[in-house]
Amino acid sequence: MKIAVIGLGFVGLVTATVLAGKGNSVTCIDTDERKIEKLKNGDLYIYEPGLDDIFEKNRGRMIFTSDYSLLKGSEIAFICVPTPTVNGKINLSYVRDSVFSVNSADRKATVAIKSTVVPGTASWLSFQIRKDISSNPEFLREGNAIEDTLCPERIVIGGKNAEEMEKISKVWEFTGSPVLKTTNENAELIKYASNAFLATKISFINEIANLCEIIPGADVATVAQGMGMDHRIGKDFLRAGIGFGGSCFPKDTMALVAYAEEKGIDMRIVKSTIEVNKARVKHAIRMIEEEVGDLRGKSICILGLSFKDNTNDLRESKSLELINELKAKGAKIRAYDPVIKELDGVEIVKRLEECDGMDCVVVASEWKEFETSPLYERAKKVIDLKKVVNLRVHPNVRAIGVYRGKD
Ligand code: UDX
Repeated sequence: MKIAVIGLGFVGLVTATVLAGKGNSVTCIDTDERKIEKLKNGDLYIYEPGLDDIFEKNRGRMIFTSDYSLLKGSEIAFICVPTPTVNGKINLSYVRDSVFSVNSADRKATVAIKSTVVPGTASWLSFQIRKDISSNPEFLREGNAIEDTLCPERIVIGGKNAEEMEKISKVWEFTGSPVLKTTNENAELIKYASNAFLATKISFINEIANLCEIIPGADVATVAQGMGMDHRIGKDFLRAGIGFGGSCFPKDTMALVAYAEEKGIDMRIVKSTIEVNKARVKHAIRMIEEEVGDLRGKSICILGLSFKDNTNDLRESKSLELINELKAKGAKIRAYDPVIKELDGVEIVKRLEECDGMDCVVVASEWKEFETSPLYERAKKVIDLKKVVNLRVHPNVRAIGVYRGKD
């Protein structure tokens, strides 16, 4: 098929590359000409395991441009532009502009919105351009994006036009995943409800972690394991830590609360989820202070900068929030990250050994390579804020959600 992908951020780039890998011709459009130049030169500006390989093999089937007129003749245009939260409310201007531009370039193309948008958006835009628009929300996770796109747990398609919805379904047929066809509004809300629910699971387990820290013999990882053995609860997204970050959960939970408030609905659970998440870095600071005392002049090594493992994405990174708070309290920071090697205002070391002899090592991201390290044995104090360190190998490490007891 001839397909257009609008917006070459994380979702757009992965979607376009995977679809090219399945033999489609993909016109990739972004208004940021620097991005287009980079892609033309084969420079992928995001780190996502496995993406560069598929990209290299299928670049020949991809066109990179800022010119919407080149999408003419595309059967489907996937809208993947950002929907940032501004003053706690969703900004839909990028979605609106791109839908209008697709419509001017080729009115025959089926429009499918992948961007996360509040319920009513597709219907509102359909009315504006006098044409049905479908919803096809995206559920991929950074760091797992290829697998999530090749074999998602479900494909959700919302809309009014059965023929267009079938066309979208055909594009994703290769996944073999179950398809839920529904209204635009349901599809839009499924995305928000899913993200808010997963975020709630995280905040919930983080509160249990707080409790575990004062109960002799308790460890939140084992509590989560036991909970997860009940399939009604499920084992995923119960890893306690420093809180959720990234480009989706923080923004989407806020947008959902604001949207509901506008409609006169008070989303108390989602509000608490956000509140609990906001308190995580302060909790982490307290733990570090308990270990090293007054932070002024103390040298702290931070392991992991991105908002989670297997990505170089720094958006809403709790690790960066932590660094800023520690610096404000007078600590001297040195950081190590498996993929981020440069960052304004942060001294980044290339090898872990360069963090030897510091006052405290803090694990702030869940990279697998942080499970064990000789650094933990040599360091004065080690704090694991992501429940990633193997405590059987390193019993000296203080972990979030584990009873500390008295030394
Ligand atoms: C999320 C959703 O999972 C995905 O379906 C949606 O399309 C986009 O938003 P993403 O933000 O890429 O994906 O990453 P995710 O793996 O969900 O992690 C989000 C944050 O939650 C990270 O900061 C991560 O460290 C944190 N997290 C996740 C936890 O603290 N504990 C967990 O158990 C899981």
